Amino acid sequence: MLLGNDDWWRDAVVYQVYPRSFADANGDGTGDLQGVRGRLDYLARLGVDAIWLSPFYTSPLADGGYDVADYRDVDPRFGTLADFDALVAEAHGKGIRVIVDLVPNHSSDQHPWFQAGLRDRYIFRDQPNDWESIFGGPAWTQVEDGQWYLHLFAPEQPDLNWDHPEVRAEFRDILRFWLERGVDGFRVDVAHGMIKAAGLPDVGAKDGPQAEMLGDEQVPYFDQDGVHDIYREWRPILDSYPGGRMAVAEAWVSSPERLARYIGPDELHQAFNFEFMMADFHAKSFRTVIEKSLAEAELVGAPTTWVLSNHDKPRHVTRHGSLARARAATLLMLALPGSAYLYNGEELGLPEVLDLPDELRQDPAFLRRGESRDGCRVPVPWTAEPGCGWRDPWLPIPPEWTELSAEAQEDDPGSTLNLYRAALSLRRRHPALGGGTLSWLDSPEDVLAVERDPGLVVVLNTGERPVPPGVAGEVLLSSGPLAADGSIPPDTAVWIQRSGSATIDS
Ligand code: NOJ
Repeated sequence: MLLGNDDWWRDAVVYQVYPRSFADANGDGTGDLQGVRGRLDYLARLGVDAIWLSPFYTSPLADGGYDVADYRDVDPRFGTLADFDALVAEAHGKGIRVIVDLVPNHSSDQHPWFQAGLRDRYIFRDQPNDWESIFGGPAWTQVEDGQWYLHLFAPEQPDLNWDHPEVRAEFRDILRFWLERGVDGFRVDVAHGMIKAAGLPDVGAKDGPQAEMLGDEQVPYFDQDGVHDIYREWRPILDSYPGGRMAVAEAWVSSPERLARYIGPDELHQAFNFEFMMADFHAKSFRTVIEKSLAEAELVGAPTTWVLSNHDKPRHVTRHGSLARARAATLLMLALPGSAYLYNGEELGLPEVLDLPDELRQDPAFLRRGESRDGCRVPVPWTAEPGCGWRDPWLPIPPEWTELSAEAQEDDPGSTLNLYRAALSLRRRHPALGGGTLSWLDSPEDVLAVERDPGLVVVLNTGERPVPPGVAGEVLLSSGPLAADGSIPPDTAVWIQRSGSATIDS
């Protein structure tokens, strides 16, 4: 089924499902595809345009599924290919597109190629160089006969050798496999990683772990020119299917100009703009990042993406310091031009779980470098009953999350769930939201005021005192209660329909 225009991704709201933690249909404590299917009505009611499924492929889950043993099958813990097909069909029937994760930089060490000792498909050397794993420690592991293989992530994730034609052919085929099954696009994992600098040169002397340089400086294992050839091979494949099949890159590179190189009519459609996620909760930092992001969008002639949370970073309620701030940042994000990527549970205002016992943490980064991403991967609370609708979940759900559950928030007009629903519904109907342009309005230093044409003004107060809205009009939505005189309290954002300006579609 075709769902409207081919450019749908330009202003889409995409909801990231981390399948292990989203919804568990068979009650084994691990989320599954049937669980996702069972929540499609919830997602349709939320008002998202698409879901992005983090990996559900056959995997030992050494890195939560980003270690794929079979790129063409579903791990039994998550279901079957038939479940996947049913999920896509039903999602499409409800007007929700489906994006899947593609993990081309590395496979699992349980992949048949690695198991069969096909070393030319991987990166084996007699001696390691000085490269470090993103998860900490050396990026090389030695095998019995003395050779070393490269793994930019965990040892269970050997890097593939993209100089090998079979590797390239295999991934072209994997793309087709999922496109044939009806997926609307791909989120490309470590999209800047597949090609390494010739000769694998050392990074050289540096202060602190190499992982700290990433994104600021160029390293010989990321963002090499040759990676763009791969996307030029992939794009015609995507374009050969109807209905607007797209790809979004996860690429941590050193400048907006370098990120822009991944996007274009002959490469990928979008790249995550992580700068917004890294910004402090302050009008100035948001403005700097927004200006930079819009400049980058100009460079590529496509709107940018906005992200506040995902499965790799502490949830934004905790990062920004309070639920009030998270709600305000969300209203800002959803009013910016371009597409927004939401992470499951953020619509419930879930905080990061900081006190998971060490022995329950499963993130390989925790085992190697002591930093864990498990706290943002705790299962989503559905019901207000003890257990939140989960039996023996793979990570424990804090007992107080019954109050944050979807059920508890359902009928509460002030709940975060209903704030997201209202914002997404307005975003669909309001002619100023989605794509388009943005202009800055004069405002005090702690206040961000943005006008979206026609007539929608977003005001965010990151200061310590209430501020007047600064424009006349009707408040369409507010992230928190306004003062009796209509002023905007600290840590609050509002959407205002300027008096005398455009009307909203119903
Ligand atoms: C980025 C993914 O988002 C992350 O979860 C994973 O650990 C690494 N890539 C390695 O695949």
